[in-house]
Amino acid sequence: MKGNVIVGQSGGPTAVINSSLAGVYRTAIDRGAKKVYGMLYGIQGLLDEQYVDLSKHIKSDLDVEILKRTPSAFLGTCRYKLPDIHANQEIYERIFAILKQLNIECFIYIGGNDSMDTIKKLSDYAILTGHTQKFVGVPKTIDNDLALTDHTPGYGSAAKYIATSTKEVIRDGLGFSYKKKLVTIIEIMGRNAGWLTGAAALSRGEDCDGPDLIYLPEVAFEIDKFMARVKKLLEKKDVVVVAVSEGIRDKEGRYVSEQGGGVDYVDAFGHKQLTGTASYLANAVNQEIGCKARAVEFSTLQRSAAHLASRVDVNEAFMVGGAAVKAADEGDSGKMVVIDRVSDDPYQTATGIYDVHKIANGEKLVPREWITRDGTYVTEEFIDYVRPLIQGDSPSVMVDGIPRHLYMSSKK
Ligand code: F6P
Repeated sequence: MKGNVIVGQSGGPTAVINSSLAGVYRTAIDRGAKKVYGMLYGIQGLLDEQYVDLSKHIKSDLDVEILKRTPSAFLGTCRYKLPDIHANQEIYERIFAILKQLNIECFIYIGGNDSMDTIKKLSDYAILTGHTQKFVGVPKTIDNDLALTDHTPGYGSAAKYIATSTKEVIRDGLGFSYKKKLVTIIEIMGRNAGWLTGAAALSRGEDCDGPDLIYLPEVAFEIDKFMARVKKLLEKKDVVVVAVSEGIRDKEGRYVSEQGGGVDYVDAFGHKQLTGTASYLANAVNQEIGCKARAVEFSTLQRSAAHLASRVDVNEAFMVGGAAVKAADEGDSGKMVVIDRVSDDPYQTATGIYDVHKIANGEKLVPREWITRDGTYVTEEFIDYVRPLIQGDSPSVMVDGIPRHLYMSSKK
């Protein structure tokens, strides 16, 4: 590699997004990059010339290992939408001037479907204006909703956290007061895709029945039917646990979270902040059925629980980071690295690469046939798909009894 590499992180963080950063850094150094820069707060920070020389912050092999186990975006993230390439040339000129000044050859962006819009626009602009830098995306999102990749780094670890914590919530309920009724509603992220919520089913096994009901956004939510199912379950058992996606909507397409008031915040890509679904439903259960009802929002815990990360996920996140640098160095641009599942048993994957235009801004939903006909659970096919992704652990480096993280004291 003759020139330098710059890498950024964008969108919602995950437990393993920094493992991808470590993979980018390691591979760039191995392939002879003189400098590996990190954008602070993604493309938005770069526009303000906010970047660091990563070698000043990742100083040893131990730092690389700790970085792989550090949740959240080490470099800081953004949800920033670049304008159309014909609408505001000035922004693009500014970005390409910074890239030229830093002698950047490979631009790597770790993100989800919105972030791939940035790779798409920058690579299109480069072709249009004759710039030679290569732009490659690294998949990342707990939502697992990126097209053309078997799954996304970040999903497996979040799924492992959700399955484990759901099991613990169910266990908690089983010790609930004698002859008292309790309904617990667990709210899980994932926006309009139910991949994460479906992972609650992985809590089911020899020692746990799993949640009683699972509602994904792929099927319209009917509160009357939900209430009838809960009442029926309470006739047979005292404690009912329901997993719901933050993004479930009624037949008219209105988010259930909005019906409880919700939050008005909308990001640059037009996504509403979805929160409050579980508390809305818990209140409704309490009012209609009269029993105790509790809302549990896994919220940011499900994407930051690196202490429970899946080893498969940590390793794959590292692998796709490295593959992106290799692809860019070999001349690919306007592409995103994907994970191809080569075999289920033994579980094996390899990296591939796809045109980012087919991925950016899209949403891959759970196939309807992987959800039961009545829309209240996921099927065995769904469980078979997810189970390999949550395997193995990635023990943290423990200091004073808690995990050690790599952090950048000068970032803010
Ligand atoms: O896209 C990932 C995600 O974690 C979604 O599941 C969730 O709706 C959203 O990000 C939350 O984003 P923020 O933390 O910016 O509110």
